[in-house]
Amino acid sequence: IEKKALKYEGKAKQVFATNNADVLWVHYMDQVTALNGKLKEDFPEKGHFNNLISNLLFDYLTQSGIANHWLANISETDQLVKRVDIIPIEVVTRNYASGHFVSRFDVKPMMPLTPTVQEFYYKSDALDDPFMNDSQILALKLATKEELTDLRIYARQVNEKLVALFKNIGITLVDFKLEFGRTADHQILLADEISPDTMRLVDQSTGESLDKDVFRKHQGDLRVGYQEVLNRLEQFLNQ
Ligand code: C5P
Repeated sequence: IEKKALKYEGKAKQVFATNNADVLWVHYMDQVTALNGKLKEDFPEKGHFNNLISNLLFDYLTQSGIANHWLANISETDQLVKRVDIIPIEVVTRNYASGHFVSRFDVKPMMPLTPTVQEFYYKSDALDDPFMNDSQILALKLATKEELTDLRIYARQVNEKLVALFKNIGITLVDFKLEFGRTADHQILLADEISPDTMRLVDQSTGESLDKDVFRKHQGDLRVGYQEVLNRLEQFLNQ
């Protein structure tokens, strides 16, 4: 497969066309941003951790029967995915209170959330990703009612699979964000990335963050936690 023109550059990834119209080439960058780009820094190798972690998780979800865009890992920092049109909705799942759930509702961090919380946000840097409810999504024609139902079901399935996986390696999955896309034939696929940039992960024995919160809260080098997550996943999934 050949890499062609850059189609899109986001805050953490570059997406290139390829010689196959149905396949995109995703490059994971070393840049880390927070607060919608207001905090920004380069961490050499960060892209490599996120690419490899995302690969392992998509591979695991594929084996668990969850339809997604992932096709192959092609290098330390690059992967091939099926081309989809991204639905501009960020689907957040929360098992424990953290981040914006804590600041919005003034509850104790790590309060268990039952039932698991699902939230939708409009994917728009210009608007700072505002929260959206179902009727707002429908009125703005971002998704159909059937698609919204599917997004909720897929997010719940992904959560069940990932919670179980991380539990096996001594990590609590606190919350995470998913994005979905539509294929040319209107199938909905899980897309984007699943990495410590998009999840909150807490070490069950030490209570330490193994994710982007280390950067958001200026708690040191985020790569230490990312490396730890990668090591544990590799050891568990390749055994
Ligand atoms: O900031 P908040 O508490 O709403 O984040 C919930 C989860 O979604 C966190 O795991 C965070 O990393 C992820 N997220 C993301 N991209 C965003 C917003 C949140 O990956 N634009």
